[in-house]
Amino acid sequence: MTRRFAGKCAVITGGAGGIGKGCALRLAREGAAVAVVDRQAQEAEGTVDEIAKLGGDAAAFPADVSNVGSIDSMVEGVVRRFGRIDILINCAGVVQNKPFLDVSEEEWDRIIDVNQKGTVFCSQAAARVMIDRIPDDQPRYSGACNGKIVNFSSISGRRGRELQVHYAASKAAIISITQSTALALAPYGINVNAVSPSVVMTAMWEQNDREKAAILGLAPGEASRGFIDRIPLRRPGTSEDMAAAVAFLCSADADYITGQTLNVDGGFEMD
Ligand SMILES: NC(=O)c1ccc[n+]([C@@H]2O[C@H](COP(=O)([O-])OP(=O)(O)OC[C@H]3O[C@@H](n4cnc5c(N)ncnc54)[C@H](O)[C@@H]3O)[C@@H](O)[C@H]2O)c1
Repeated sequence: MTRRFAGKCAVITGGAGGIGKGCALRLAREGAAVAVVDRQAQEAEGTVDEIAKLGGDAAAFPADVSNVGSIDSMVEGVVRRFGRIDILINCAGVVQNKPFLDVSEEEWDRIIDVNQKGTVFCSQAAARVMIDRIPDDQPRYSGACNGKIVNFSSISGRRGRELQVHYAASKAAIISITQSTALALAPYGINVNAVSPSVVMTAMWEQNDREKAAILGLAPGEASRGFIDRIPLRRPGTSEDMAAAVAFLCSADADYITGQTLNVDGGFEMD
């Protein structure tokens, strides 16, 4: 594998498991030093151990991305340990399936705070570090690439979901946040894009299946099968599929791409 990210530091939220872990391993294999950020401290250490076995450099940073104080401490810790941030992957996320009429204020706030607020304030804190490292004599719009941010949206952000009013809203917001932050950070040569998966068999997807089965009276796995049958490529995505797209967006090959949300969904969304 090429080492496109040698000498760079990648911060990956939600890096303890699922897609975030896949991204952490992929970027580490390609030479990045990786900060594994997650509220699950022990599992984050597990990702770090796997990277160490690959001969890579990584450290775990337990943090809650829904809390700006926690984000700021995490970013300070990353800068102390690695001295820089070149890449941020906003992968931490939470989901809930619940009938619209039953969603509480607390449940709404939790989903929005992690998925939406977390993405905004992790991006803000990491972008400040990226901008601090830009040489004083480098003008705005110089054409130099000074950082990459990749967010995670979802097919649930592309259209409404009757059992996910809060989750779908948070993932639709990611498309807008990706555009706004891409515009705000373009003068500094920082690109911001997003990946939009359909079905990836992670802990989150298992929770989705369980909750939908309970609400709709389906057998375990039935909701998943229904979704996969609607994917033109007729298979769920893998964390590796997501990580490959993330690695592309973080690479020099994507230096002229910003503000985009890329469907990595087996063709689920075509319009
Ligand atoms: N799995 C799918 O099918 C799918 C589909 C579309 C979009 N996505 C998106 O991809 C991203 C990753 O999903 P996944 O399937 O890997 O989920 P996952 O549940 O397997 O992993 C999410 C990780 O985020 C961490 N996390 C949650 N809340 C946090 C917080 N407040 N602070 C720090 N870490 C926190 C969890 O501990 C976990 O390690 C999410 O943003 C999700 O919305 C997933």
